[in-house]
Amino acid sequence: MEIIVAENAGFCFGVNRAMDLALEASEDKDKAVYTLGPLIHNPQAVQKLTESGIMEEESVANITDSVVVIRSHGVPPDILFEADERGLDIVDATCPFVKRAQEKVQELKEAGYEVIISGDKNHPEVRGILGHIDNQAIVIEDKSDLKELPNAKKFGIVAQTTQTVDNLRELVNHLLGKVKQLEIHNTICNTTEKRQNEAANLADQVDVMIVIGGYNSANTNRLAKICQENGAKTYHIESAEELKLSWFKNIKKIGITAGASTPNWIIKEVVKRMTEEMKDQTTESEEVFARNEIITGVVKEETEEGVLVDLDEKEGFIPLAEFESETAIEDLATGDELECFVMNPDKEGQVILSVKKAKAWRKVEEQYENGEIIEAEITKEVKGGLVADIGLRGFIPASHVAIEYVEDLSEFKGETLELKIIEVERDNNNVVLSRRVILEEEESQKKQEILESLEIGEVVEGEVTKLVDFGAFVELGGIEGLLHISEISWDRIEHPSVVLEEGEEVEVKILDINKEEERISLGLKQTQPDPWEKFVEAYSVEDIVEGKITNTVEFGAFMEIESGVEGLIHISEISHEHIAQVEDVLETGDEVKAKIINIDLDDKRVGLSLKELEEKKPASNQQRNKKSTAVQEKGEEGIAKIGDVFGDLFDE
Ligand code: F3S
Repeated sequence: MEIIVAENAGFCFGVNRAMDLALEASEDKDKAVYTLGPLIHNPQAVQKLTESGIMEEESVANITDSVVVIRSHGVPPDILFEADERGLDIVDATCPFVKRAQEKVQELKEAGYEVIISGDKNHPEVRGILGHIDNQAIVIEDKSDLKELPNAKKFGIVAQTTQTVDNLRELVNHLLGKVKQLEIHNTICNTTEKRQNEAANLADQVDVMIVIGGYNSANTNRLAKICQENGAKTYHIESAEELKLSWFKNIKKIGITAGASTPNWIIKEVVKRMTEEMKDQTTESEEVFARNEIITGVVKEETEEGVLVDLDEKEGFIPLAEFESETAIEDLATGDELECFVMNPDKEGQVILSVKKAKAWRKVEEQYENGEIIEAEITKEVKGGLVADIGLRGFIPASHVAIEYVEDLSEFKGETLELKIIEVERDNNNVVLSRRVILEEEESQKKQEILESLEIGEVVEGEVTKLVDFGAFVELGGIEGLLHISEISWDRIEHPSVVLEEGEEVEVKILDINKEEERISLGLKQTQPDPWEKFVEAYSVEDIVEGKITNTVEFGAFMEIESGVEGLIHISEISHEHIAQVEDVLETGDEVKAKIINIDLDDKRVGLSLKELEEKKPASNQQRNKKSTAVQEKGEEGIAKIGDVFGDLFDE
């Protein structure tokens, strides 16, 4: 049996970089480190990260006072903004090739192109790219999406970095000749292209291809598809334990490739198992069972040490300790069928089995399928989490113990917790449990109940939990609402801390409720009298008011008339003289008198004038000469009168 490993198999540059950045961040023990989603699509590598204390979160909204690592897929800009606003330390591990695709879509949009992304609609990388142009692009996954293309003259195309060249080519061919202008940016990562070409060539030469990588890894799934399409019998596995001898019976040549998120140590393990354990057996052994498989055996004989079972052409042995109880053995009769778990597929010609483990796995698999909540005792704390006894060894990663980061996990030892099974991999002897998902479900349910009980327009009590530059978060008895800075006060304020303090009790008005996204918008100023109403009662056009300049802009200056009411002095209303820029005459903080020249009730705007209070100056000689010339130009018609020319002077 010849085994050929593809040259470009395993971690790509971008994934390697992301792993290094995350591990580097975890070395600083001052802050917890979270990745936004799994850093890479490989459960074994993620497990390694967990063991280094790196936790996973789906949303920055759930993270406080920590380091957040943006994975190589990148994210939409609003997530980076939110992370920044929440004061998180951001480690941006977005792959530079993905960044290039993000920039290209922006350039295309700005240049007026209808943007098309060739990729998977739900892939995080594609969602991140879309976010850079406010989701204003069409994502084409396959031929069936082509009908969604709108009528446009200019199309610009970019591709998900792990897209196949064939898919991109198909899209381009479809559009060629149909549109006036087509700009194509082949943003497929070079590594991906190489890896895919190599896999296709290899698949062409061998009988069987083994593709290693996470089942949720898009690029690994694509590699498997390419190998299959190139004629090789293809098996997609995550780890060496999944290899089955039966795949290689009478096979001469085997090719191995791996996705960009597959660590090299997993590839090495696969190669090792194939060369050391399986190579010879493939031709010698007729009946082969895989480790951790559940098979059926027929009771043949009971001995003092255990029970012998018939497995067709092989014999199996179940040690006494591998039954759940003594009575389970006493009730056995020759010919009974038993479900057995393969502990060792071949020990001195016998298959070593366990009935106890088969039952435990079946139970766990059923509980997982049904999404059941189970109770289990925590037996010990291990690196990166806790171990629970569920008849098997269940692992609870540290990030799944609670919603918040738990400093000291040892406090849970000996406790019985409610848990949910979130991952079952019998082949890898791996059961992952979570307490956090239960707590989150409860929290979400509670939030929905609160959301149902609230009404837009209602005034409720809450506590200010956090002040940020753009507003304040207010706790409303189980759910937080956002009080945007513009809704805090009728006055213009620089920062929420001018009005509010963390921990303060406030009465706020519900302005909006988004049940789907569990978001509540709040208003504080709406609970206080609107100064505009007082203003319109007290003032009219032509009134003279005094106030302070609060801000100057290119087109004028804002003056505070009353607390919460500002008027605009347009640049043309500052003086009868020409003014080059507002700041030549007015500065923030100046106390001035102005005349109200306009009140717009609908838009709550006040127009003010300084020049209306200013005495008009006599026209300059130059202006007079200009007017005199104008009279002469009117000729002999006698239309212009002396008052037309010197009217200003007579007025004065
Ligand atoms: Fe980057 Fe290419 Fe890897 S885009 S993350 S180097 S597959």
